[in-house]
Amino acid sequence: MPAAWQTVGWMVRPAAFLARLHERFGEPVTIRTLWMEEPMVLFSSPEAVREVFRLDPAVAPAGQSWEFLRPFAGAHSILVLDGEEHLRERRLIQTPFHGERMRGFEPTVAELARRELGVWSGRVRTLERMKHLTLEIILRIVFGARDEREVTELRDAVHATLDGVRSMPRMLAMSLVQRDLGPRSPWGRFRLAVERFDALLLDVVARRRAEPGGDSMLALLLEQRDEDGNRPTDRHLRDQLVALLAAGHDTSAASLAWAFERLARHPAVHARLGDGDAAYLDAVVKEVLRVRPALTVAPRKLLRPVRIAGRVLPAGVHVAACLWLALRREDLWPQAAAFRPERWLEGPPPNPMSWIPFGGGVRRCAGAPFAEMEMREVLRAAADLRIRPARPEPERARRSALVVTPHRGGEVVVG
Ligand code: HEM
Repeated sequence: MPAAWQTVGWMVRPAAFLARLHERFGEPVTIRTLWMEEPMVLFSSPEAVREVFRLDPAVAPAGQSWEFLRPFAGAHSILVLDGEEHLRERRLIQTPFHGERMRGFEPTVAELARRELGVWSGRVRTLERMKHLTLEIILRIVFGARDEREVTELRDAVHATLDGVRSMPRMLAMSLVQRDLGPRSPWGRFRLAVERFDALLLDVVARRRAEPGGDSMLALLLEQRDEDGNRPTDRHLRDQLVALLAAGHDTSAASLAWAFERLARHPAVHARLGDGDAAYLDAVVKEVLRVRPALTVAPRKLLRPVRIAGRVLPAGVHVAACLWLALRREDLWPQAAAFRPERWLEGPPPNPMSWIPFGGGVRRCAGAPFAEMEMREVLRAAADLRIRPARPEPERARRSALVVTPHRGGEVVVG
């Protein structure tokens, strides 16, 4: 197929496109889209996925795939770094995600979720509402925003900047022509929005430095010390906050919208959530992430030829663990397309290289424990909500910027 057609399939019908590819060509399969100059080779069997995740970052960096985010993400961002620098940054940014600390954030997430769901009635586009909620959670817990004024200011600034980054075609076009053609040009407007956002963020950082304490991730990040005992600079903290925002906002919102899309069509599963069984709640979260993962690939760009699953791939191509296909393989997941949380409670646990909604290896999602906790708390709050689908047929998967979302926005009727 010409690249333009593949791009349409990739964007508009990603699930059907990937399923057709797998059916017709098996593994591996090479795709060409207009988003990347080079072809991308997709693997999905556990053995090949393990090999992809174990590739040496010096040979197969991942940061280069996010290069277009650099103007917003910043030079210290974990997203664009590779090798030693990436590992150093990863050690720092993961501190707030450890067990005890993570549990400390649960009550706030639960309260914000209850407040959000408490006002739902009639037709609700859950994707929109989950974008609102996950941003509120990030602003309060990650950024440590303390009052309505701080939340509102930051929310407005996030919209002004992220709306520019979210539009992939716009972002790509802008990064190709990074010329400031005045404050009215797209790049000029974007730069101005980032500057305003940065000024606000640096202000929040200064306030938290001045009055330490509190239980936000920013408070924990402020305690970081590098190998020489140095404190993080304001710029570095800014890049860490932006990385957590860029990686953790749309992904969580999409996964939660899919949870509502699936629950509305599986009333028995929803009813069982009401029993308060923690193992079942966890199984529902895992099954949503399996059957509707928010991201479809974890790509790495090859700088040298490598051998994967017995095939030599040339330098210059992208190689990817295809999360979507791995999570949908019939040989690993009987009745793979069915939404069946029970599968997590029966039988042996799945191969860790087949349940990979968070990617793997040294780039595995740094926020995975937070994302799962957030989903558990929102679904716990949704257990007694009366919902039904606005239309009976399942919603199709569609790509919106980088994440896969339900094409009608996860529309449900409440009440
Ligand atoms: C359900 C929601 C989420 C999903 C499905 C998800 C998935 C992913 C995936 C697939 C990757 C790339 C892995 C790879 O290339 O192998 C990633 C990276 C990352 N995620 Fe998440 N994520 C989610 C939520 C979050 C949250 C809430 C945060 C933080 C608050 C977060 C922070 C990060 C960071 C910092 C990285 C970069 C890690 C690195 O490059 O070392 N994510 N995520």
